[in-house]
Amino acid sequence: MLEDVDKLKAEALAAVAAAPDQAALAAAQGRFLGRKGSLTALLRSMGKIDPAQRATFGKAVNEAKNQLTEAFAARQAELERTAIDSQLGDPSFDPTIPGAPVQSGALHPLTIVQERVERIFESMGFAVLDYPEAETEFYNFEGLNIPADHPARDMQDTFWLDEGLVMRTHTSPGQVRAMREYGAPLRAVFPGRTFRYEEVDASHEHTFHQVEGLMIDRDISVANLIAAMKCLLREIFERDVKVRLRPGYFPFVEPGFELDIQCLVCDGKGCSVCKQGGWVELLPCGLVHPAVIRFGNLDPDEWTGWAFGLGLSRLVMMKFEIDDIRLIMSGDLRFTEQFKGAWR
Ligand code: DAH
Repeated sequence: MLEDVDKLKAEALAAVAAAPDQAALAAAQGRFLGRKGSLTALLRSMGKIDPAQRATFGKAVNEAKNQLTEAFAARQAELERTAIDSQLGDPSFDPTIPGAPVQSGALHPLTIVQERVERIFESMGFAVLDYPEAETEFYNFEGLNIPADHPARDMQDTFWLDEGLVMRTHTSPGQVRAMREYGAPLRAVFPGRTFRYEEVDASHEHTFHQVEGLMIDRDISVANLIAAMKCLLREIFERDVKVRLRPGYFPFVEPGFELDIQCLVCDGKGCSVCKQGGWVELLPCGLVHPAVIRFGNLDPDEWTGWAFGLGLSRLVMMKFEIDDIRLIMSGDLRFTEQFKGAWR
């Protein structure tokens, strides 16, 4: 019996030495040490051995197994080295050439701020909704109580499409859409692209971004609006922000306001950013006009609400101190790359 072990070991070692490559070596390893290998079979036959010889036999088989396992591993390492050496010997292979740099993308500053705004409102129970960029005249104007003779309808600042549709001039059309879609009570924000026929300069673009916010419930007051706006601004600017409301006219809110924030650069003392006034105009807002609530198929005697329309492009410019709106949609990587990992 012991001779069988020695014989098998010798055969296996010869196979190791003779294996020309890694595949042949792996096959040999399977033949001897695999689940159906011959050495494994010897181990399995242990039960049939005379008990007096079993210990000696077992020891011999185990030793052979260990020795062979080592021999296979050593030969495997040797074959790997040979494979690498032969590649290095190939004159077309130059291990000193630097690898191709890994290109990593990054979020656009608009995306960074938009996602932050969405997260802030989501934490207050608001849904994030998405509405069409090519809008009907009804949703963009009439449904928002904007009569046909309102200057916002002017050919001068609106892009009309052939089918009687209009590229939405603001995100406000979502107000009536959301009320019709979800009824009341309702909390939602809807960010998106907006379009105007503008003379392009450092602070005007024909394509820009807004976020609209809408809350419909019973007994909504200006206090609810201010609380939500202060929460938004504290999270965005990472500090308490003083706000003030001035009257502002928008046909779809009553009362309507311009919300100003105390200048973050000079803390209200007056500087070039706030044009010495101490306050910076940030977002228009107000209590939803009863006519708009009615267009949303809700009863204005029962439901009230607030709404705001935030210039997202503007907010991005304030947050990241960007002084030209044209940079935002320029697609220039030298611009966007500066925000890699910003504000994460
Ligand atoms: N849609 C208006 C605009 O783009 C902004 C606006 C004003 C939105 C007041 C509102 C609001 O929701 O209440 O000029």
